[in-house]
Amino acid sequence: MTDDILILEDLHKIYGEGTPNSVHALRGINLKIKRGEMVAIMGPSGCGKTTMLNICGGLDIPTSGSVKINGVDISTYNDTQMTNFRRDNIGYVFQLFNLFDYMNAQENVMIPLLAQGMSYSEATRRATMILREVGLGDRLYQAPSELSGGQQQRVAVSRALVTHPVLIMGDEPTGDLDSITSEDIMDMFRRINTDNNQTLILVTHSKWIGDQCDRIIYLRDGRVVGE
Ligand SMILES: Nc1ncnc2c1ncn2[C@@H]1O[C@H](COP(=O)(O)OP(=O)(O)OP(=O)(O)O)[C@@H](O)[C@H]1O
Ligand SMILES: [Mg+2]
Repeated sequence: MTDDILILEDLHKIYGEGTPNSVHALRGINLKIKRGEMVAIMGPSGCGKTTMLNICGGLDIPTSGSVKINGVDISTYNDTQMTNFRRDNIGYVFQLFNLFDYMNAQENVMIPLLAQGMSYSEATRRATMILREVGLGDRLYQAPSELSGGQQQRVAVSRALVTHPVLIMGDEPTGDLDSITSEDIMDMFRRINTDNNQTLILVTHSKWIGDQCDRIIYLRDGRVVGE
């Protein structure tokens, strides 16, 4: 078992390869992230941060290069293998929360557990527990549209964490929130990181968030240009 939870080797991504308007978004990324690290990915708009995170999280596939998570090369996976791997290993938090509004807070958090085959009653129990931990014990049956932005993001973070994924990724996870609420969300991330030694990778434009991480990795034009 290796100490590196994520290893990227010579990762390239070309959108629309072979077409006149193809975009070479990643140009040979090499990166290792250790288990338990909290890492920020920073860089100018369009430099490839979201592309890289999506590939690390199995939401997109690289044009070439390899992505190893926990010693497994996921770039060789087919769709079904990828879906199962993502379900069991990755927690993903988006800037715009991506909650389902026809489900209440509790049901949103239950989705990944039910997808893993957990019983409805056990999934209910765990979702309730984690929502209580993040201070939403009195908002379990509220639809996302009836919650504030910060509350919605706490639901989204709970949904990402409830399965205890080995790797947690956030793409501008506090991007849409005011500074006080962002602090709450960052406190949650730091607590998860220190209490459970879980690995976090956060894409951010915020120096303030970067400074709270163990490492900042800078991208530019699809390459790592510094730490
Ligand atoms: N689906 C797509 N099809 C074609 N080009 C894309 C696609 N997604 C992203 N790109 C291009 O790839 C490059 C990297 O985009 P990416 O979204 O990874 O940047 P980013 O660093 O996350 O930027 P931001 O900080 O603005 O979110 C950009 O030039 C973008 O226009
Ligand atoms: Mg982005």
